[in-house]
Amino acid sequence: MGWEHPVFARLYDLYMLPQELWGVRARRRRVVGSAAGLTLELGVGTGLNFPFYGPVPCVVGIDPDPHMLDRARRRAGEARVPIRLVRACGEHLPFANGTFDTVISTLVFATIPDAEAAAREVRRVLKRDGTLRFFEHFRSEQPVLARLQDLVAPAWKRVLGGCEPNRDVVGIFRRAGLQVLETVKFRGTFLLSGVAKPR
Ligand SMILES: C[S@@+](CC[C@H](N)C(=O)[O-])C[C@H]1O[C@@H](n2cnc3c(N)ncnc32)[C@H](O)[C@@H]1O
Repeated sequence: MGWEHPVFARLYDLYMLPQELWGVRARRRRVVGSAAGLTLELGVGTGLNFPFYGPVPCVVGIDPDPHMLDRARRRAGEARVPIRLVRACGEHLPFANGTFDTVISTLVFATIPDAEAAAREVRRVLKRDGTLRFFEHFRSEQPVLARLQDLVAPAWKRVLGGCEPNRDVVGIFRRAGLQVLETVKFRGTFLLSGVAKPR
């Protein structure tokens, strides 16, 4: 099944560990710690963000992969805030319009097969004054580097659970009706964090 990556789920924390120690964890803390109010987390994976939530009333976490969700469930039990996990895809969020104050997405828009549809869903489920707080792969603005990203993308996608790191994530958010308020690059890599809100 396209959504199930049992080996990737088993190895994910190990694969991420060097990156977490190199600064990804600190960036997660910054992005996730800024969540306020009722919060939706897209593509929770193994739940690496859960320890960083501040005093929000509840986090609803979605992911389509049951192997990721099994691991996330264990971490949710140790979190300081209530975390409810739902098996769902970003492209079809099972929530009413204007439900959430905050949506968190970290390292997920590169993996969602129809990222444009998922961004529209984020826009739909956010309250009018809600925010999307993200930490995502992005396509380089430099043509040579972008071309290099295109070359490695097919192999990267096969090995890393469907991840396509060469997507224009800011463009995806804008086309979905989100206004990108700020972006901060991460250590010279093709990762950036930022904040967006419904236009
Ligand atoms: C690279 S992992 C990132 C996990 C986590 N967000 C983190 O920061 O560590 C990508 C996650 O996106 C999930 N995913 C894949 N397709 C998705 C979809 N259509 N909607 C939402 N999440 C999806 C995968 O199952 C996986 O857990």
